[in-house]
Amino acid sequence: MKAKTILITGAGSGIGRDAAFALAARGHRVIATTADEAQATALRAESERRGQRLQVRKLDITDPADRESLRDEPLDVLINNAGVGESGSLAEVDVQRIRQTFEVNLFSTLALSQVALAGMIARRSGTVLFVSSIAGRVPMPFLMPYSMSKFALSAGAAGLRAELDRLRCGVQVALIEPGAIHTGFNQRMTERKYAWMQQSSYFAGQVEQLRAEETRVFRLLEARSSDGIVAKIVLAAQAKRPRLRYVSPWWQGLGVQLARIFGV
Ligand SMILES: NC(=O)c1ccc[n+]([C@@H]2O[C@H](COP(=O)([O-])OP(=O)(O)OC[C@H]3O[C@@H](n4cnc5c(N)ncnc54)[C@H](OP(=O)(O)O)[C@@H]3O)[C@@H](O)[C@H]2O)c1
Repeated sequence: MKAKTILITGAGSGIGRDAAFALAARGHRVIATTADEAQATALRAESERRGQRLQVRKLDITDPADRESLRDEPLDVLINNAGVGESGSLAEVDVQRIRQTFEVNLFSTLALSQVALAGMIARRSGTVLFVSSIAGRVPMPFLMPYSMSKFALSAGAAGLRAELDRLRCGVQVALIEPGAIHTGFNQRMTERKYAWMQQSSYFAGQVEQLRAEETRVFRLLEARSSDGIVAKIVLAAQAKRPRLRYVSPWWQGLGVQLARIFGV
């Protein structure tokens, strides 16, 4: 397989960092980007330590100047992995929190993809991967600010794929849909709502019960390692014609399909 130039966002931690090292280990030139300079410095140090050379740079996807700095970078693959989590009931969560979540998970992700797509369409080659979520296929009560942003992202990616197919420009689009994976993301997301729910909430009397339920569910569901989803990212990044969706763990994907059949 020919080595590719692959840019991944949100590579300072979790799935993004693991995917960056996995792709570099397969001989690809990986541009691993992080939300801030501090993460970039830490990732450079880790890259040195592991002897796996990543090209590390800061890319805050919400910063238009950071996004534009990539316009002349000839990318074979863009992996939109950066994301934020937000929680709380739709009956009361501050809509500004939902906006901020969409700003990162949808609008900035799309804006960055458009920058990369300009070069890919001109060169008639390239792949854009969107790391969405199983939470983008089944509504997750109390995690809806996040879940809705991933629903929108998944729908957008499927639509974009069909649009580009009509152009016959050789540019591929695919979705990576992780189930619950223990990176700390879910714990940070679920906790965010409790700071304000303890002050004022329709659900104030249920806060401790809700927290215990969420802790139990994620302890039960979360895969302990990112290996499964990273393998799917590698597969999709290397594929000539990737499938629309790559899910891991597989049994969570099956759960989603069953939930939809039964009308959840
Ligand atoms: N873990 C799961 O169970 C799970 C399940 C389904 C989908 N996902 C998705 O998988 C992706 C990676 O999540 P993860 O679990 O690996 O959690 P993570 O370690 O928190 O990774 C998310 C990364 O995105 C970065 N980021 C946030 N805002 C950014 C911005 N404006 N510009 C650039 N980078 C930004 C974060 O940086 P900071 O640390 O500075 O915020 C962090 O490094 C996310 O899109 C997430 O929605 C995760």
